[in-house]
Amino acid sequence: MAKVLVVGGAGYIGGALTDQLIDAGHDVRIFDNLLFEERYLKPVEFIFGDVRDAAALKPHMNWADTVVWLVGLVGDGACSLYPRLTEELNIESVNWLVRNFDRRIIFMSTCSVYGAQDGILTEESPFDPLSLYARSKVEGEKILGDRAIYFRLGTLFGLGDTYSRIRLDLVLNLLTVKGCLYKRMSVYGGNQWRPLLHVRDVAGAVVKNVDSTLVGPYNLHTENLMITDLAERIQKYVPDATVEKTTLKFEDSRNYKVSSDKARNTFGFDPQLTPDDGIQEIQRLVTQGRVQDASSPRYSNTDFLRPLFAPQQSPLGGEIIPPVWQAR
Ligand SMILES: NC(=O)c1ccc[n+]([C@@H]2O[C@H](COP(=O)([O-])OP(=O)(O)OC[C@H]3O[C@@H](n4cnc5c(N)ncnc54)[C@H](O)[C@@H]3O)[C@@H](O)[C@H]2O)c1
Repeated sequence: MAKVLVVGGAGYIGGALTDQLIDAGHDVRIFDNLLFEERYLKPVEFIFGDVRDAAALKPHMNWADTVVWLVGLVGDGACSLYPRLTEELNIESVNWLVRNFDRRIIFMSTCSVYGAQDGILTEESPFDPLSLYARSKVEGEKILGDRAIYFRLGTLFGLGDTYSRIRLDLVLNLLTVKGCLYKRMSVYGGNQWRPLLHVRDVAGAVVKNVDSTLVGPYNLHTENLMITDLAERIQKYVPDATVEKTTLKFEDSRNYKVSSDKARNTFGFDPQLTPDDGIQEIQRLVTQGRVQDASSPRYSNTDFLRPLFAPQQSPLGGEIIPPVWQAR
């Protein structure tokens, strides 16, 4: 049993991970500034704080045997809103982490570091980051070197737990909700490949590595699918939904297939949940009336953060710095 501090643990992955860490018998503490939430209800020790506030974070690092670093701005759109904040949260905080913690670190990277490349990509394949988000993860990995294990995650889908925010800005979740609610799925381009992974299978991989000594990059995915094939897969469950193809948008130009053999062969990575499982999970949410409006900003990192980052005019003249930007 280890003392595990999950920094950024109140989010999408954090919800699933916390459950599985507790089930595995670990002592879990969450540190998070609730960027997207007004409350945290999970019955687990919770510390409200900003990762940039070293004095607030340090005592909890001193307590921990293992730190799982989930914190950061996530996704191309969200990171492009406020590049300086992205650098602070996704790069500079990682620098602080390695200088202030000498035990086990588990870090989340992304397959977006591969950008657009043909063939099946392994951990030896070159980087081709197409966005600030992807570049910030490349930098994070370089800073960590052999001080951490880092998972290059595919595009996630599915439900993490019963408490945490659902993200509908992820391709499988979004297309399924649109197909179920509006009977229409818009696909940009469509021939891009994505490695997909259920959010609860990320948690499984982390739990297997809480006290392992493995370091370096590991791709994690369950199935590589072309977006158009994903839409057809969804039609299996929502036959009255049509697929509409539109012009490729920049954020959908990523295109990669990966191999997760290294993770399978090294630590027995064994994803349990398929895209079909995720589609049915999300479909149930809609048919039970639990999701009403797919375009609500609460489901999208970019749409939720955009107004928080917008400079505001002071009634006395001049700009007010968005509060989320101020170090706390
Ligand atoms: N979801 C995906 O598809 C995906 C894919 C690849 C990699 N990842 C990586 O996995 C990690 C977690 O992703 P997620 O989907 O759970 O993201 P998320 O946005 O749901 O969670 C991030 C958490 O960090 C917290 N946070 C943000 N700024 C903070 C600050 N200044 N101080 C303290 N807490 C702060 C937020 O409140 C949130 O709870 C990220 O590093 C992400 O880049 C996610």
